[in-house]
Amino acid sequence: MQTLTVDLGDRSYPIYIGAGVLQQSLLAQHVRGKQVMLVSNETVAPLYRAAVCQSLSEFEVDEVILPDGEAYKDLAHWNQIFDQLLLKRHNRTTTLIALGGGVIGDMAGFAAACYQRGVNFIQVPTTLLSQVDSSVGGKTGVNHPAGKNMIGAFHQPVAVLADTEVLNTLPDVELSAGLAEVIKYGLIHDADFFTWLENNMQALRSRNADALAYAIYRSCEIKAEMVALDEREAGVRALLNLGHTFGHAIETHAGYGQWLHGQAVAAGTMMAADLSCRMGWINADDVDRIERLFKAAGLPIKPPADMTPAHFNALMSIDKKVLDGRLRLVLLEAIGQAVVTDQFDQAALMQTLQGVR
Ligand SMILES: NC(=O)c1ccc[n+]([C@@H]2O[C@H](COP(=O)([O-])OP(=O)(O)OC[C@H]3O[C@@H](n4cnc5c(N)ncnc54)[C@H](O)[C@@H]3O)[C@@H](O)[C@H]2O)c1
Ligand SMILES: [Zn+2]
Repeated sequence: MQTLTVDLGDRSYPIYIGAGVLQQSLLAQHVRGKQVMLVSNETVAPLYRAAVCQSLSEFEVDEVILPDGEAYKDLAHWNQIFDQLLLKRHNRTTTLIALGGGVIGDMAGFAAACYQRGVNFIQVPTTLLSQVDSSVGGKTGVNHPAGKNMIGAFHQPVAVLADTEVLNTLPDVELSAGLAEVIKYGLIHDADFFTWLENNMQALRSRNADALAYAIYRSCEIKAEMVALDEREAGVRALLNLGHTFGHAIETHAGYGQWLHGQAVAAGTMMAADLSCRMGWINADDVDRIERLFKAAGLPIKPPADMTPAHFNALMSIDKKVLDGRLRLVLLEAIGQAVVTDQFDQAALMQTLQGVR
């Protein structure tokens, strides 16, 4: 097992990574009061509820099991968590445990942020995407029909337990979606890691335990560093949104759950790479390398064929990175180096939006 720390002063917390971390007593160590509310979904609960509950015998454990899918990441289903918390009379010392992928983690975390103005929660991420990204950093929230993740809060967990063994039941397409975020870390921050990914993509897709553990560790290490520097995303943390402005537009356009988040991020990152190349910041060989790696990871490299520049423009204008009416994008200066900027050529952006069709 490996342990990382997200360094946020008195709100610092550990990330435990490795095979079998759920089998240890780690979970119980991070529960503060007597009450636990397990939040999971209909797919993950039957698989891993027993492993989680086995270490919680000394606590009163209640559960809320939500339907499975991004389409249910909304206020109505989020409210079901409060229904259970109140029905079972949970008090301010309760601990919520999010057992599932990013959808459950985001919803349970946001419920923990709001229940009685804030209670503890523990992330037990069960997808690659949630282990490398969404469980770390304290962004929580739900979708609105008009925009992804538009309602939410910053609320850090007290611990993250990433058990690599749970990935064995993850569908291939979900594994690929998680690899999109892993590739993102290489692109924005670590050219050597990008090269390592080029050399180890087949091992990752065949779920080699050592390769996965290293990819998760390095991804969490980069994320933890950026979050510690900039918890509220005033600066460097925004680089983690590479490909996401385009990607969120794709997800919203396609309808939540039609395109997986990671798939949309892959296609969105190709658009960011294309624009970076048009700006002369990276060259065509770099774009080819990025495209090859996404393809090797089993990810799409273009948005849905029915999306027009008008669709993108309309959806991107509501993006959270629009400041004072100016769209800001994360673009690449090199493989391993990204920048947040509103200094891109509008005509080049238009070409990128048209070029993808
Ligand atoms: N908070 C953040 O910083 C952050 C960052 C990135 C993404 N996100 C959010 O995360 C969400 C995407 O997360 P995701 O990709 O984990 O999707 P997800 O939560 O929908 O999980 C994907 C699918 O895998 C199933 N599943 C989960 N674990 C499994 C396992 N071990 N075995 C078998 N099946 C399993 C789920 O039930 C679901 O059907 C999006 O809503 C996105 O906005 C948040
Ligand atoms: Zn993401």
